[in-house]
Amino acid sequence: MRATSLCFALTFALLGTSAHANSSDENKYICFDPTKFTASKQVIFNGFTQSCDQWIDAAQGSGQVFHGTTFDSTFDASAQTTTVQNGLKMYAGPYGGNGLDCCSDGKSAAFKNYTYFCQDPNDWMPDKTYSGTATGGATMTCTEFVESSSDIKTQDFTTSWSCDGKSAAIQLNVQDQGASIMGCCGSTKKSACSNTRAHVCENPSTFLPSHTFKSDDGMFDGTCYTAVGTTNTDATGDCYGSDFSKTWSCAAKTPSCQLRLLEIARKGCCGTSGEPASACHGHYSGAASSQHVGVIALVAAVAVFLA
Ligand SMILES: *[C@@H]1O[C@H](CO)[C@@H](O)[C@H](O)[C@H]1NC(C)=O
Ligand SMILES: *[C@@H]1O[C@H](CO)[C@@H](O)[C@H](O)[C@H]1NC(C)=O
Repeated sequence: MRATSLCFALTFALLGTSAHANSSDENKYICFDPTKFTASKQVIFNGFTQSCDQWIDAAQGSGQVFHGTTFDSTFDASAQTTTVQNGLKMYAGPYGGNGLDCCSDGKSAAFKNYTYFCQDPNDWMPDKTYSGTATGGATMTCTEFVESSSDIKTQDFTTSWSCDGKSAAIQLNVQDQGASIMGCCGSTKKSACSNTRAHVCENPSTFLPSHTFKSDDGMFDGTCYTAVGTTNTDATGDCYGSDFSKTWSCAAKTPSCQLRLLEIARKGCCGTSGEPASACHGHYSGAASSQHVGVIALVAAVAVFLA
């Protein structure tokens, strides 16, 4: 998975080599909250043990990651290079198991709160960790996921963000990977992208993007969000080209599109009311006895982010 490529080449100061203690600046400013800096905490790294203060002083030595960087109250982490920002994260937090953890809340001065990743910004869980098949077993926080996934790392979720018009890859990373699988938006499992497909339900607030949908024809087993996406974002989908991010008319669609969306609602994607909660309820224009229009191919769009 792309998100696991969280490896940064950093040079570390080794005790006794280029360690130039510099106590004239204030190392606590490597932390998002300077009061969380654990200056005297002893940390073992590369077989050497010294305090956080000493490690950071050493990292300011010649050829090291913070060389030429002064930590004081005017220090602006957002103005630093990516290398320095990654260094801050590594010294401040657990950093996927490789960090020195010198800020007690794990947050470096380069910490950003990606609250607009979620439909309700209050739901964002920056420190939530996930470990499983989607990350190849590696442990990753929601913050690390946003910053390392190639599809979404260039998006700015620190400010009001709309999913409308974003690529299918971005939509899947945000909703299926981040919200449904990793749980980055808490128990609602609704990201800023969930609404892009919510109008398949008569009342879009009933849409359950992370609910599991298994199609009658056995062709699809995945989230409701992805199931809807296969109908309208795949060129072969029954409702291809439909925009389910806003009110639309089911009456004008083909019977196969109508049937597919009715099935999606019947299996719980619009809550427990089933078909009556579908935007297509009462609009089916095909043969009354027909349950299926042949085999409707919901092609395997799952695992896009696992590529
Ligand atoms: C030590 O810190 C001071 C004040 O922040 C800075 O001016 C100086 O360049 C630093 N020296 C080294 C060797 O990093
Ligand atoms: C980040 O955002 C969440 C959700 O709004 C909030 O609960 C949390 O306090 C924020 N964290 C920081 C460090 O600002």
